Amino acid sequence: METQIKKLDYEAVDMDIIEEAGRVLKEGGLVAFPTETVYGLGGDALNPASSEKIYAAKGRPSDNPLIVHIAAKDDVYRIAKEIPKKAERLMETFWPGPLTLIFSKTDLVPLKTTGGLSTVAVRMPSDKIAQELIRAAGGFVAAPSANASGRPSTTTAAHVAEDLNGRIEMILDGGQAVIGLESTIVDVSEEKPVILRPGAITKAMMEAVIGPLEVDQAVLQADSGIKPKAPGMKYRHYAPRAELTIVEGETERVIAEVNRLTSQAELTGKRVGIIATDETAKRYEKGLVRSLGARSCEEEISRHLFEVLRSFDETDVDYIYSESFETAAIGQAIMNRLLKAAGYRVIEVGK
Ligand code: TXA
Ligand code: MG
Repeated sequence: METQIKKLDYEAVDMDIIEEAGRVLKEGGLVAFPTETVYGLGGDALNPASSEKIYAAKGRPSDNPLIVHIAAKDDVYRIAKEIPKKAERLMETFWPGPLTLIFSKTDLVPLKTTGGLSTVAVRMPSDKIAQELIRAAGGFVAAPSANASGRPSTTTAAHVAEDLNGRIEMILDGGQAVIGLESTIVDVSEEKPVILRPGAITKAMMEAVIGPLEVDQAVLQADSGIKPKAPGMKYRHYAPRAELTIVEGETERVIAEVNRLTSQAELTGKRVGIIATDETAKRYEKGLVRSLGARSCEEEISRHLFEVLRSFDETDVDYIYSESFETAAIGQAIMNRLLKAAGYRVIEVGK
């Protein structure tokens, strides 16, 4: 199949293209589209055949449920039952936006879309193109991140094409995703709300609205027998082809250790990539250095993380060493993705 790539302008969204993309979805086809977090691979959420196509296009195990995207808040009541008060407060405060909530589902949602679960993940994106597409498609669009299973999520249309060209009908190109990391996921289907995946809507932001929240143990730890509640979190994720290791500790020590490791590897004929920041990039003496942006601006770091991870796959590096990012707000989300990409390989050099 030939994948059509259509460029859209946020200032003047071409509604003919949106209508055409909406038709593709209604007829059971797949359309990748921009959201404020990452690109999504959309299919009609109420059509089990579409969900099957999504799993096949990504090469994703079909027990890994999809997020259903809506464009009108009230549509949540058609697919979710028992919406707790706290969830309503979160929806009022953070929708539309990068927050996904998990509810018990109604019969309208096919089990194929929820990977066989009786719960459904729902998100209302703030991205204008995403909203128009969801409306044009009939209101309910299932969309995982638009990457081949296991690879970093996509933040540009070119990255989507890299992974999915020839496997889907259409890609809507809305430029670079602003946040760059996937939505925060909170399970509100049980008594105590639990964060299953950290994102740009942070624990503190939500606690200011509904009080204490728990964090699923699997969020910042290696598997070690802990069964994550979001099925997707158990799969190897975001992994670049080279072996990635995070070097953690006081900045000067990190730089010295990365320089030492790089020299050592190069002596044995290996090539090294380094994930740095604007503040430190020039301090690395060897290796292929890529900066995520200014460490002082965590939005910049999160926006570029997947792009930089992906970019190393076009090089011949054998090892990648990355700085660590325990920043105040989005830091937990950045570390969660980086740790997964590194298979939890961390070297501590002391604070
Ligand atoms: O920002 C985002 O959330 C992006 C954009 C496209 O909206 N979507 C996204 O989808 O990241 P995906 O499929 O790559 O990640 C969804 C995660 C998976 O880890 C999945 O296991 C989990 O959400 N999930 C989905 N439905 C669930 C459910 N009913 N219960 C528990 N976890 C669920
Ligand atoms: Mg994903």
